[in-house]
Amino acid sequence: MDINLIQTQVENDLNTVSSASELESVRVKYLGRKGVLAELTGLIGTLPAEERGLFGKQVNSLKNKLLEFFQEKEKTLKTQGGTVDKNRQDIGLPGIAQELGSSHPIIQVIDEICGIFNRMGFSIVEGPEIETEYNNFTGLNIPLDHPSRDAFDTFYLKNYPKLLLRSHTSPVQVRAMKAYKPPLAIVVPGRVYRPDAVDASHLFMFHQIEGVLVDENISFADLKGILGLFIKSVFGEDIKMRFRPHFFPFTEPSAEVDISCIICKGKGCSVCGRKGWLEILGSGMVHPNVFKQVGYKPGKYTGFAFGMGVERIAMLKYGINDIRLFFENDLRFLKQF
Ligand code: DAH
Repeated sequence: MDINLIQTQVENDLNTVSSASELESVRVKYLGRKGVLAELTGLIGTLPAEERGLFGKQVNSLKNKLLEFFQEKEKTLKTQGGTVDKNRQDIGLPGIAQELGSSHPIIQVIDEICGIFNRMGFSIVEGPEIETEYNNFTGLNIPLDHPSRDAFDTFYLKNYPKLLLRSHTSPVQVRAMKAYKPPLAIVVPGRVYRPDAVDASHLFMFHQIEGVLVDENISFADLKGILGLFIKSVFGEDIKMRFRPHFFPFTEPSAEVDISCIICKGKGCSVCGRKGWLEILGSGMVHPNVFKQVGYKPGKYTGFAFGMGVERIAMLKYGINDIRLFFENDLRFLKQF
């Protein structure tokens, strides 16, 4: 090892030093416990006896030189206004930025939709994801032989009392109507579960928003008015809406609601299956049997209900073609919202 070369290296290194912390790292490099000087000192013992004396002297004088250099540099730093206090923090260093989180796209859509209904006077309520068979089916006038009650279509948890993972948010209708007297207007966001095979449009867990409004003299026209306002707020003024007759056990009459395709504006494309319309929710007038189940006086009250899938609406709104993207926790996807 060339002792003179080391000396020049130290001088070069010190020339680039402009702060106490930089000086400290150069000091560690040469004078530290595992530094260059320690290495040279360790070498002395390995040399033949006749060379040791001379090499030892050279190492020693290098050490004194270095100490001198460092002292000098320390002084210049001080006179330049710097300080060599080892404990001093360099507040000029860039900090470690804390990444800001943001709400999940599904939560953003839930907040937007519930916000719209909330401003029209609906309260936002939630119910449990583990439900009784009664609230999920029987209270909603869903007959015992209905296919959705099959073990292939619902996650059953326990037999007595029969518990399950709710397959829709509609059971919260039953809970709310049992807890409050009319007039009642609520929206219910939450997770629902179905044993579906996973693909680009199916998951075993997704989100729904349920709505129900009950009072005296509520008609289908009220349902149409409220949903029309809602759809225009989410998808824009130009969107068209149509009601298509359908069957749900808990509403009568029942209808599915379509909007004009937001991609092709109704002309027909691959997203709407060339129909020009997209189905976005189920709705209807609350069935008298449901009122009976919850103890509302039959004949006195009428009401409407509706239920929609949040993922579907989010996919249409943002042009997302695979539902799985929402739940893979890929930050490249999530950061776009
Ligand atoms: N619960 C239904 C489902 O999961 C959606 C639904 C349809 C809810 C019509 C309603 C309704 O409240 O009136 O498919």
